[in-house]
Amino acid sequence: MGTIIPVEKITKDGKKILIRTAQVKDASKIVKLMKDVIKEGHFTLSEPDEYNVTAADEERKIAKCRDTEGKIYLVAEHKDEIAGFICFDSWPTRRTWHTGLFSVYLKKKWRSKGVGSMLIKAMLDWGKTDPVNRKISLAVFSTNKGAIALYRKLGFKNEGCCKRDMIIDGKYVDSVLMYKYTK
Ligand SMILES: CC(C)(COP(=O)(O)OP(=O)(O)OC[C@H]1O[C@@H](n2cnc3c(N)ncnc32)[C@H](O)[C@@H]1OP(=O)(O)O)[C@@H](O)C(=O)NCCC(=O)NCCS
Repeated sequence: MGTIIPVEKITKDGKKILIRTAQVKDASKIVKLMKDVIKEGHFTLSEPDEYNVTAADEERKIAKCRDTEGKIYLVAEHKDEIAGFICFDSWPTRRTWHTGLFSVYLKKKWRSKGVGSMLIKAMLDWGKTDPVNRKISLAVFSTNKGAIALYRKLGFKNEGCCKRDMIIDGKYVDSVLMYKYTK
């Protein structure tokens, strides 16, 4: 099952954060958070008018992650606010479900306070004990230098690069692939 025991952490500026398994009731807050990140324009595959995920879609995803070994969906919560989330989605077949990709997104005001690190570390700790997971991968825009530096700092290694994977504002952008073994 994709669940963790909730853990309380303190941000670099002294705020309490609860890292816990996402619940179905978080879905609409997560969709709103994601819409705001997409509007920023720098970090996502979708442009604002292409993102059609509904709260009901996200509820299904949260429930599937909670009920399936090899998947995990976590949120970082401050009081009633979702500061950010991480979702690791494993591949769907027996030959591939020991690995998959994760995405992590924070509200703008919660960045650079250590919350992204908390979520990634919690996912990696989960991966060490989950019966299925062996390897955690990610794909990040080559232009997202801060995120790449953070992943490297947390032990992710370069696995390759998909050249000209996106066209953003008329310019080619590569995807950098990274991985870390959990066992
Ligand atoms: C990427 C993201 C999840 C990181 O979370 P965060 O809480 O901001 O990151 P943290 O505060 O935990 O860690 C920041 C660390 O990243 C590294 N870092 C960030 N920007 C950096 C830069 N420009 N150069 C070098 N290192 C950098 C540093 O190691 C820093 O640690 P330090 O402050 O102790 O030196 C968050 O900023 C975010 O949501 N960004 C927008 C969406 C996004 O890009 N998501 C990732 C898509 S793959």
